[in-house]
Amino acid sequence: MTTPIKDITFLPLDHPGAKDLTYRARRDEIAAVTLAARLEGKLPPAIAYTREEDATWKTVLGKLKPLHLDLASKSYLAARDLLPISTEEVPQLAALGQALRDFSGFSVGAVEGLVDGRTFLGAFAEGKMLCTQYIRHASRPEYTPEPDVVHEVIGHVPMFMNPDFVAFSRLIGQAALKAGPEDLVKLERLYWFTLEFGLIQEGRDTRIYGAGLLSSFGEIQHCLGAEVDRRPFDLSEVVNTDYEYSQMQGKLFVIDSFEQLRKLSEPFLNSIIHG
Ligand SMILES: [Fe+2]
Repeated sequence: MTTPIKDITFLPLDHPGAKDLTYRARRDEIAAVTLAARLEGKLPPAIAYTREEDATWKTVLGKLKPLHLDLASKSYLAARDLLPISTEEVPQLAALGQALRDFSGFSVGAVEGLVDGRTFLGAFAEGKMLCTQYIRHASRPEYTPEPDVVHEVIGHVPMFMNPDFVAFSRLIGQAALKAGPEDLVKLERLYWFTLEFGLIQEGRDTRIYGAGLLSSFGEIQHCLGAEVDRRPFDLSEVVNTDYEYSQMQGKLFVIDSFEQLRKLSEPFLNSIIHG
């Protein structure tokens, strides 16, 4: 969320696709199509995914879905199954955005890669989640160092079917557009420990709703284990807790419901919006 947009085509040497010129060219091609549509204010462009890309999608979903059945929030599972998400081929963002819009009023926009925090969170104010369209490298379907279409579609999109989650996200967006540097850091932490790494108590089970957990093979099996400090959601603690972007999360916060998340966060977010 913090890499400047001009660095999108840069892949570090340890990236699984760094030495694959065909993969890099494909990433550049998708980025160019996405950028052109974004600059013209158009809906996410259709991407003609290759057979290999569809195969990567199918492989990842085939492994993630059984884990989700056991570990994901029931709200997430119910929402995901209402969306046009095929297990055979990479879904098109435009179709997903339309389905979301019809259901909750939220939608998705396409973006070439990581964008700065204010731009990313600010889009929530317009009811839009900015999503990448490229897919991870086929050689390591269980790993991606940055958000790809699997992370966006399987991790994030279904949660925007929930009205309290949508209202909460929109408020984060409105606050991000108004926040000074210190408050922006707090908003990024709130985003991190909820939309990316949130847990929810459902009856006797603690389950997952955060996209960074739902789309990561490592995190999904680690986050409910004994090494993680899971504590009840406390807004003040959340916005004052630093996170590590590239390591397994050691501390996570558990909400009781999405309504509780919205209600507990509203005063803080409104104080920034109207401050
Ligand atoms: Fe994400």
